Amino acid sequence: MGGLLITIDGPAGSGKSSVARAVAERLGVVNLNTGAAYRAVALLALRDGVSFDDATRLARLARTVDLDPEGVKIDGRPVPDPELRTPEVSAAASKISAHPELREVLLTVQRRAAEIARGRGGAVVEGRDIGTVVLPDADLKIFLSAAPEERARRRAVQSGREGELDRIRRAIETRDRQDSEREVSPLRPASDAVVLDTTGLTLDGAISKVLELAHETRSRA
Ligand code: DC
Repeated sequence: MGGLLITIDGPAGSGKSSVARAVAERLGVVNLNTGAAYRAVALLALRDGVSFDDATRLARLARTVDLDPEGVKIDGRPVPDPELRTPEVSAAASKISAHPELREVLLTVQRRAAEIARGRGGAVVEGRDIGTVVLPDADLKIFLSAAPEERARRRAVQSGREGELDRIRRAIETRDRQDSEREVSPLRPASDAVVLDTTGLTLDGAISKVLELAHETRSRA
């Protein structure tokens, strides 16, 4: 018997990462950020000058990436978070994530990480297609959304780039389009997901709501 698996999917700036981190901490389970694996491949592609259209080489790069409860690794070495969070890496991660060949490699990586975490008591796994594709049998699926202007505002405040609100909003809209319109594993709520619009919610409000759902799920299990 393993622990509870909770998936949190949603677009950039919906509050996914902050909510997933806090909920995992409060429940005493692992937090897996699957976007970090896509970002690690993007970082490698930028570093090695690999074209974002070259699915075969991108899939090969993905084979050097691993995800575990401690974070993402390239060739067994941890990747510092700031390197994964630049605007260039964000844009590249969204572009390359359209390739099925690359997604297939990372699917195995993500499932293995979730299995390890489940064995350690459970996990909150966040991404875009966790409830629909990666862990369709998860115990609780959450889909967080928020209006694009609000998501851009949060990103600008988070990164101390309030003066660049317009640029950030455009980048978010481009990523939304790419993530939702790709043919393989597009961003969309699973049919059995709880959809939570966080536009008018504080971070604490969103965390409480998800914790409430998690406790309900646990008491039913
Ligand atoms: O969650 P994030 O913003 O760090 O993710 C970066 C990109 O990776 C995102 O634009 C799309 C891709 N991604 C994905 O396709 N599937 C996932 N499960 C997680 C991320």
